[in-house]
Formats: sequence, C-alpha cells, structure tokens
Amino acid sequence: MYPKLFSEIEISGITLKNRLTMAPLYLGYAGEGGTVSPLLLDHYRLMAKSGVAMVVVENATIDHPQGSGSNRTLRADTDENLDGLKELASVIHGEGALACLQINHAGRFAGSEEPLAPSAVETFGRMPRALSDAEIHSIVDRFAEAAARTKRAGFDMVELHGGTGYLLAEFVSPRTNKRTDGYGGALENRRRFPLEVVAAVKKKLGDFPLGYRFLADEWLPDGLQLEESTSFARSLESAGIAYLSVMGGTYESFFLPHILEQTCKNGYMVHLAAAVKKAVGIPVIAAGRIATGALAEQILEESQADLIGLARVLWADPEWPQKVKDGKEGAIVHCDPDCGDTCTKLVTKGKPAFCVRWPHEKMKAWKERME
Ligand SMILES: Cc1cc2nc3c(=O)[nH]c(=O)nc-3n(C[C@H](O)[C@H](O)[C@H](O)COP(=O)(O)O)c2cc1C
Repeated sequence: MYPKLFSEIEISGITLKNRLTMAPLYLGYAGEGGTVSPLLLDHYRLMAKSGVAMVVVENATIDHPQGSGSNRTLRADTDENLDGLKELASVIHGEGALACLQINHAGRFAGSEEPLAPSAVETFGRMPRALSDAEIHSIVDRFAEAAARTKRAGFDMVELHGGTGYLLAEFVSPRTNKRTDGYGGALENRRRFPLEVVAAVKKKLGDFPLGYRFLADEWLPDGLQLEESTSFARSLESAGIAYLSVMGGTYESFFLPHILEQTCKNGYMVHLAAAVKKAVGIPVIAAGRIATGALAEQILEESQADLIGLARVLWADPEWPQKVKDGKEGAIVHCDPDCGDTCTKLVTKGKPAFCVRWPHEKMKAWKERME
C-alpha cells in the first residue's frame, strides 16, 4: 500500500524513514511566557509516535516579546528555555521521529504593543513601525542565535518561518514592503532580508540542515504571486536551503470568503508546491488537507512534491499514518472543514486548542486536564 509514501528520502544527508512530516501547528500549548510545558511535551510525544518521519515544531520566537505572536509562543531567543527545548527534542526522538524547530519573527502580526514591519502598512487597524537598518541587522543576528540554540538543544534541523505573512514574508511581499532603500523595490531588494538571514544562520550552523516555510502566493491581488515567488525559491536553493515547505495565504487572505471556500478542499495547496517543485531541485513539502493516503501517494507519484506535511490532519487523528499504512482509512478521524475553524478561533483567543472531531474519551480527558 502506497510504496512512495512509505519510502525513505534524504534531506542534506539525513535519512527520513518515510515521506510524512508533521507541518508546524501552533496550538497554544506552551506555558505562559513561551516555556516548554507538560502539555506541549505530551502533545509532541503523541505527534512523534504517530509514525511520521519528522516533526516540525510550531513557530518559536527569535525575539520575545517584540517578535512573538502571543504570550504562549515558544521561546527560542533565550538560554532560559534551552533545557525545555532539549527535553522537547528528546521526547520527539524518543518516539523515533526526527525533530525540527521552526523559528520566527511575527513582524506586523506580533502581539506586541508596537509591531515592527518593513514598512508602515496598516493591518487590521494597527499601524506597524518601519524597521531601521540597525534593527534589521539586529534581527538577522537574532535569527542566527536562535538557530544555534536550536542546534544546541539537539534538534536535527531548523526551519525559518517565511510564511503566514510574518516578518520574512513581509519583506518579500510587494504589498507590505514599500521601502525605498536596498531592502525594498524590485524583488532583488525585497528578498535581501531573508537571504541575509539565511546567510547568517548558515555561517553560524555550517552544514546543519536549514529548511524554509515558503509563501508561494499571498492570495491577494497586490500580494506576492508565483511568478516572483518561484524566482525567490531558486535564490533560496542557491543560498543552501535544504528543503522548501510550501504554503499559501496570510492572515489578510485566510478568512476571505472565496479563500475559505478553496481551503475547505483536500489538497488545496498542492498546486503551489508543484509550481515551486518545478523551479527547484531541493525537496519540497506539500501541505493542506492531505486527508487520504491515495492523495498523498498521488502527489508524490506525480512529482508535485517530495514530502507530505500534515498539520490538523495529524492532530485530529495521530493514528493517520498507521491507519493509512494498514489500509484502515475508513477509521480515520478527519479534520472537519465545516467546524468553523474552531482550533484557529481558540488559539487567536489565547486559549489552548482542542479538536471538535476528537473521540468522546479523548475530549473527556482533555476537559479534565484543562480544569
Ligand atoms: C491553528 C493553526 C496553527 C498553525 N501554526 C503554524 C505555524 O506555527 N507555522 C507554520 O508554518 N504554519 C502553521 N500553520 C499552517 C499549517 O502548517 C498547515 O500549512 C495548514 O494547517 C494546512 O495543513 P493541514 O490541512 O494539514 O492543517 C497553522 C495552521 C493552523 C490551522
């Protein structure tokens, strides 16, 4: 059953036992202040136990609180969290999966009082402040330090969060980057900041594998689109990025009615991964409601991507990989596109998320734990 899906692949010399990865999923499980909590450890233990080859841990901040999405965003910016991160990597390894940590600066979507961005472009009624050159350089250094900490914590890979409309993506976007200096204008300049981050991280980490969550299309008329993003993908490959994990959309497009209609469908971002894969030679991860083994196998078979990223799909049913392998797909608990995005709504309210599709017993245990 599904020979491609359960075949090995190498990323920068590291063997992944199959093509399944957990895509980063922030669920509000870290402790207040971004610590590694018992809830977070239990969650990632379960995700790693699922049988995926690699767990990419949710976005962790490189600068708290300025670059954090919320007060429950994991911290990768301080050695105070090093022991927690070590435990997290070790819990994932203990279940036989590779561990990767995604690091991020939330830019204009940070929860901080004065969000920072390439340019002062209003979002949801908040006006961010444009970064100075000195601040940009300091953020580049912070990315490199957080990546080095991740390596010290025992993770196998680091992933830069270039998606969702956070800071790295904000620089590349013609919609949010209106700078007139060397960091703005033509794509050549808009990609300068992420490429400086990649160079600084690589200088610090040497051969250590560095992946990139890649925004292929903002799904906004004046936003980044495939023509430019595929060119940016090639520059990331030349800069030594180990893999690209492709996504579409930002907070400004996710909730538009016509986008919500699209994102209900299985495999809704596969065409973006396929377009990026055509442009590069490094491994590409596709995500977005890859709900069945047949769809996953077809994506790989047709060379639309090299790996599959499961986020809500895996969280709704951590037995997804095993059920697919055993031909018991009828028993899979599926993420429900009609649930009204309960998990997203909970985390945006600052609450730890649960899935409305969890079986009764699991929901009961969750409620007891939350009391
Ligand atoms: C509640 C929620 C939190 C997410 N957190 C992250 C994140 O921290 N980093 C990231 O790159 N993507 C994040 N994503 C996007 C997922 O990685 C994934 O691309 C998307 O959910 C589609 O895959 P799925 O249908 O399997 O969930 C998040 C998505 C949701 C719904």
